[in-house]
Amino acid sequence: MYSEKESAQLQKLTGNLLQQVENKQGTLDLEDLRKALRYHEYRYYVLSSPVLSDYEYDNLYNYLKHYEEQHPESITPDSPTQRVAKGLIKDFVTVQHLVPMLSLDNSYNAEDLLDWDRRCRELSGIENIEYCAEPKFDGASISLIYENDLLTRGATRGDGVAGDDITINIKQISSIPLKAAFSEYGIQQAEIRGEVILTKENFAKYNALLAEQNLPPVANPRNTASGSLRIKDPKEVKKRNLDAFLYHVSFISLAATKGKHTIHTHSGELEMLWNLGFRSPQKEKKVFKTIQDVIDYCKDFEEKRDNLPYEIDGMVIKVNDLSLQEKMGMTSHHPRWAIAYKFKARQAESTLLNVEFQVGRTGSITPVAKIEPVPIGGVTVTSISLFNEDVIKEKDLKIGDRVLVERAGDVIPYIVRSLAEKRTGKEEDIKFPKECPVCKSPLSKPEEEAVWRCTNFDCPEQVVGRIIHFVSKDAMDIRSMGEQNVIKFYEKGWLTSIPDVYRLPYDEIEKMEGYGKKSVDKLKEAIEKSKQQPLHRLVYGLGIRYVGETTAKILANRVNHLLDYKDMSVEELQTLEDVGPKVAGSIYAFFRNPASIQALHELEEIGLALKNEKKEMAVSGNLAGQTFLFTGTLNKLKRSEAEELVEKNGGKILGSVSSKLNYLVVGEDAGSKLEKAKKINTVKVISEDEFLGMVN
Ligand code: IVH
Repeated sequence: MYSEKESAQLQKLTGNLLQQVENKQGTLDLEDLRKALRYHEYRYYVLSSPVLSDYEYDNLYNYLKHYEEQHPESITPDSPTQRVAKGLIKDFVTVQHLVPMLSLDNSYNAEDLLDWDRRCRELSGIENIEYCAEPKFDGASISLIYENDLLTRGATRGDGVAGDDITINIKQISSIPLKAAFSEYGIQQAEIRGEVILTKENFAKYNALLAEQNLPPVANPRNTASGSLRIKDPKEVKKRNLDAFLYHVSFISLAATKGKHTIHTHSGELEMLWNLGFRSPQKEKKVFKTIQDVIDYCKDFEEKRDNLPYEIDGMVIKVNDLSLQEKMGMTSHHPRWAIAYKFKARQAESTLLNVEFQVGRTGSITPVAKIEPVPIGGVTVTSISLFNEDVIKEKDLKIGDRVLVERAGDVIPYIVRSLAEKRTGKEEDIKFPKECPVCKSPLSKPEEEAVWRCTNFDCPEQVVGRIIHFVSKDAMDIRSMGEQNVIKFYEKGWLTSIPDVYRLPYDEIEKMEGYGKKSVDKLKEAIEKSKQQPLHRLVYGLGIRYVGETTAKILANRVNHLLDYKDMSVEELQTLEDVGPKVAGSIYAFFRNPASIQALHELEEIGLALKNEKKEMAVSGNLAGQTFLFTGTLNKLKRSEAEELVEKNGGKILGSVSSKLNYLVVGEDAGSKLEKAKKINTVKVISEDEFLGMVN
């Protein structure tokens, strides 16, 4: 896409632009700015090799955004800012594809491919056909239209003839360019096809986010990708960090005035897409002269499947010569010039033998399916989480059912569905327990939640779970403690609450079988060392429901002392970044629970710091004695960063607009707080830039 020379020029240009922004030197050249931003998006999203820090990128991007807001007439449809969508999509409009989106014929082994090669040779009358082989991406197919170099439409596959117009959501995928120079190839209009995917890394991140909110994980990247395309809130789509591989040019119309389109092969088209800035399988594709070489390549790829950063479920082999493709034509279902080579299934059938109910550290009751052991992708699967009662109902599961199980790559196994057609009549309903399977206490479930919970704070499973979480790697990181030790020490009666971790009878432990002075010394050292862990790790370790690592950091940063939270209202808690009513309610409940407060006091006595050391230092500063509140979306700073700046400079954050408030800092889409502040004379309403000026 960019030659070395162009790259060097763009990097130099970027340096100049950054300097201009920092020195506030007049107005920047908008085309230069957009060119530079596009280049850095490409490096980040397509090549995965950024050369600019996020901070620098944001600086340039925010300059452009700000300028365009002030001068809307300067906005161009391909400006990097035009990916951002405001508001919600009402209804998806059905749109016709220029060329029907067909499916692919399938093959499963070498024999099938040899057969297909024979058919291709017979049909074309050509003995030596050149093939192009590339990965079969496991995602959701899309079709894009570019007209006069601009992305004008993105659609789902739908029924193959017509799909949903999802242009706004497509623009949230940063590896899809808003502008691509098709005109350089003499092309006025192009329809191209590809697959929207979620990389394994982003899939794991998304599931971690769901786990933080105590929501069941999504089953696999494929479902998440296809589900994401039809979300009505484009901002939510952006958050999922989708990606797209483009692998087929289905239609082009040539510009009357420009030169001729001179690409004659499929591999040439992949190269063109790559050069235009798309993520095409340019690096992964390979052209072969014999079907045996194709077969070997497919097998090689199957072996390295687990090492790829994204999921593939096979390979696609295409006749490379485009005129030959046209000659061979298609059936109503698939082109005759292409075939999918499907990898070994990662699905298998098994029988649902039983369902056990496990109690988590927050009391959640999780049904776990015990199935007849079945090997899938090299691992024997025996146990599968069903997450909650609704999942059992949705999948219509019964004990004794034959079930379809899937395990893809590093994704945890899950039950796809029950094979109801195979029922014999002997299957039994799954009975969800009415009481805690461990301590027999009653269960409760708020209307809006899907998870039943044991109501007993001292339920053995909850206590053990809480302590295991507290000592875990991402919390206090007491490595030599481990799950098994927690269980053993609990059974001995030494661990009834989190502070007990610091009161273990080491002499007694030394006498236990399997322990010696050396291992106990090591344990003691690790426990003592954990007292120095930063406050946010302690907050995370407390296991407050919905408080993951990110929220724990925000909580740890915002107060002088952790126990300050016991005096905060739900409304005040909601002014914290990313804290909505649900999370605020949970934090509130935690700090009103006498057992939690008792534990925190004990931890402090033991020597753990509940004070925020960083805040202690900000006794003076530019903002000393002043109170601030932020509302709306800030452009340059994250809400947490802005609040941290206030506190570092000696200011204070308030929870609501009142006469005690000195400054309301207003971002985009400010709502009722701004209205309220206007009515109070003493409150000064300032912009984010003005605020930054005060800090500087
Ligand atoms: S070519 C007319 N190439 O697999 C050309 N399809 O199971 C049709 N797919 O509907 C598609 N990776 O959504 C092609 N490299 C690839 C692909 C690919 C994934 C999808 C595509 C298709 C489905 C068929």
